[in-house]
Amino acid sequence: MPTYNLKINGSSQSIEAAEDTPLLWALRDQLDMVGTKFGCGIGQCGACTVHVDGNATRSCQLQISQLDGKEITTIEGLSEDGSHPVQEAWKAIDVPQCGYCQAGQIMTASAFLEKNPNPSREEIRNAMTGNICRCASYNRIENAVAKAAE
Ligand code: FES
Repeated sequence: MPTYNLKINGSSQSIEAAEDTPLLWALRDQLDMVGTKFGCGIGQCGACTVHVDGNATRSCQLQISQLDGKEITTIEGLSEDGSHPVQEAWKAIDVPQCGYCQAGQIMTASAFLEKNPNPSREEIRNAMTGNICRCASYNRIENAVAKAAE
């Protein structure tokens, strides 16, 4: 099997895998980075969202062979101690209910706020619309993104 060298959370990681291995499974099964969640596996739920070159991207839809030279950030690498402004806002508002979708929500929100630091409520809702929360914590998610932008 080929070996791929990926840059994940600022470190080089060598992964031996079939070329069509989704990044999600390389992260979870080979690197033990289990913060990135499997929800649907077909690009529909957002639970698996990571950053690739700063863009929120669904890791279940990315083949490992497509990622040479890309900067990948997972929830584990967003901050060293959970103190990213989005994480702080999440804690202040007490967003999670079951918590399963939260890493993906936070990765989508943080990439969005990098590009749009002063969003309107409508822009927040539009940015977060592809991340499904089965507990329907959508109001708290929206409020936390707004708080992170303050
Ligand atoms: Fe990737 Fe649902 S697991 S979008």
